[in-house]
Amino acid sequence: MCTGNKEVIISRSETETENAGSRLARNLAAGSIVLLRGDLGAGKTVFSRGFARGLGVTEVVSSPTYTIVQEYELPGGGRLYHLDLYRIPGVDAALAFGVDEFLDDPRGIALVEWPDRIEGILSRNAVNVRLEHLSDSERRITICR
Ligand SMILES: Nc1ncnc2c1ncn2[C@@H]1O[C@H](COP(=O)(O)OP(=O)(O)OP(=O)(O)O)[C@@H](O)[C@H]1O
Ligand SMILES: [Mg+2]
Repeated sequence: MCTGNKEVIISRSETETENAGSRLARNLAAGSIVLLRGDLGAGKTVFSRGFARGLGVTEVVSSPTYTIVQEYELPGGGRLYHLDLYRIPGVDAALAFGVDEFLDDPRGIALVEWPDRIEGILSRNAVNVRLEHLSDSERRITICR
């Protein structure tokens, strides 16, 4: 359920999903948290790549599946923290890892995949993004802020 401002985008290609990520990133303030949800193959990594590009990241962007967090310096200062919590069993493990340091950086932007792992500590306002399969090449992207 979205109680805030809801935007629905139908993406018909990988590029359109990248562009949606890029556009969202360019409209965010420092300190923002974006929660990214979607099944395997829904396009989370594609969206994240566009998101990082939108913030001016030129490095190769891949999902931090094994490292849990990937940090990128942003051209205007501050950092992008790309978190993949798939391997984190719950809040205690996330805090032991130091997840709050990334979520609470006022100059940072945090993009969090598999945020359900830490639902209990996501108290601040976050932007919610959901990616859903419509067909092989189509995705529905729902952004709630
Ligand atoms: N409209 C679309 N938007 C995004 N990806 C698309 C689209 N149509 C087809 N695809 C394909 O779907 C796949 C999406 O893969 P991606 O790695 O981004 O998914 P993911 O959500 O990160 O999955 P995982 O949970 O396994 O990491 C890519 O192979 C991409 O080419
Ligand atoms: Mg992925």
